[in-house]
Amino acid sequence: MSLIKYLVVRSVVFGISLFYGGLTVLTVLFRWFKNGNEFFVVKERSLPPICLQDAAYGRHAYLKLKNIKLHYVENGDRNKPLMLFVHGYPEFWFSWRHQMKEFAATHWVVALDMRGYGDSEKPAKKSEYDLEILQKDIVELVKALKRDSCILVAHDWGGVIAWNVAANYPEVVEKLVIMNSPHPTTFREKLRGSIGQFLKSWYIFLYQLPYIPEWSVHTNDLEIFDRIFVDENNQLTITEEELEGYKYTFSRKGAWTPPINYYRQNFNIKGMIEGEKSLPKIRAPTLIIWGENDIALSKDFPELARPHVQNLTVKYVPKGNHFVQQDKVAEVNAHLAEFLNKA
Ligand SMILES: *[C@@H]1O[C@H](CO)[C@@H](O)[C@H](O)[C@H]1NC(C)=O
Repeated sequence: MSLIKYLVVRSVVFGISLFYGGLTVLTVLFRWFKNGNEFFVVKERSLPPICLQDAAYGRHAYLKLKNIKLHYVENGDRNKPLMLFVHGYPEFWFSWRHQMKEFAATHWVVALDMRGYGDSEKPAKKSEYDLEILQKDIVELVKALKRDSCILVAHDWGGVIAWNVAANYPEVVEKLVIMNSPHPTTFREKLRGSIGQFLKSWYIFLYQLPYIPEWSVHTNDLEIFDRIFVDENNQLTITEEELEGYKYTFSRKGAWTPPINYYRQNFNIKGMIEGEKSLPKIRAPTLIIWGENDIALSKDFPELARPHVQNLTVKYVPKGNHFVQQDKVAEVNAHLAEFLNKA
């Protein structure tokens, strides 16, 4: 790869990022003028709402891995098969509460806060969020839970990690369940080949910039959560108290930079030019559950994953949004149960 080529692509990406950065600044300022003085205030929340401590979801625990201390919530009998839940952006273990409650009867359910999120440790350096390291966290966590393998259930950014773990560490994944997260190879191909997906992915470019992403989410008391957890009729899909759970967690100091660093660290320009190696074919039986109303991801991703997975089942959830496991709980849990009950 020539240096010139690298610099050209780097500049184009930076240009696109600056464009979206400018647009974001203007949008935020516009909303500020409309909303008034309190716009840049995030309420101080000293105590977590009760739902974050609800024993029905599980017990809180920590594990120290080689390089990181992770927080997780667990439920069910430790002798049952292990279901490990990996959340996306911008969430934490709480994203999986409905599944924890449902599957604790038949499984040992564990939902972690990924590094940099929630009550897990938050390394300061961007390079600490490299995809290689994020994969190792999952592999090491399974070992630390004294298991050889698990049923890995993942969403969004958690899905990026889980796709990679299932491909690169097949011995660790017995079954794979992915919700609204494209197979990484298909995502790269589509980002290159489809204007539609490219435009839907604008925030990935925005997130390459310093400061502006963090600044833009700290508006109107973390209004971002009021905007993303809504159904097709723009009604909140989680309770007010659950909303407070998210706002409590993400109002704490330093809560946003590590999650955004996932995007900053893993935007691979060198890989874009040279073409990255596609991942080894996934051997674990795999279920993709896909909320059809995802505004950030094209609906054909599940089918595009077929060549990359040996044994794939796809279940679409009509009217389900990106956060499908909280949006359409009954449908998602039924699909999960059906898949897990197969031999
Ligand atoms: C695919 O996976 C399902 C679910 O685990 C299993 O029931 C089925 O036998 C598998 N099919 C093949 C061809 O291996």
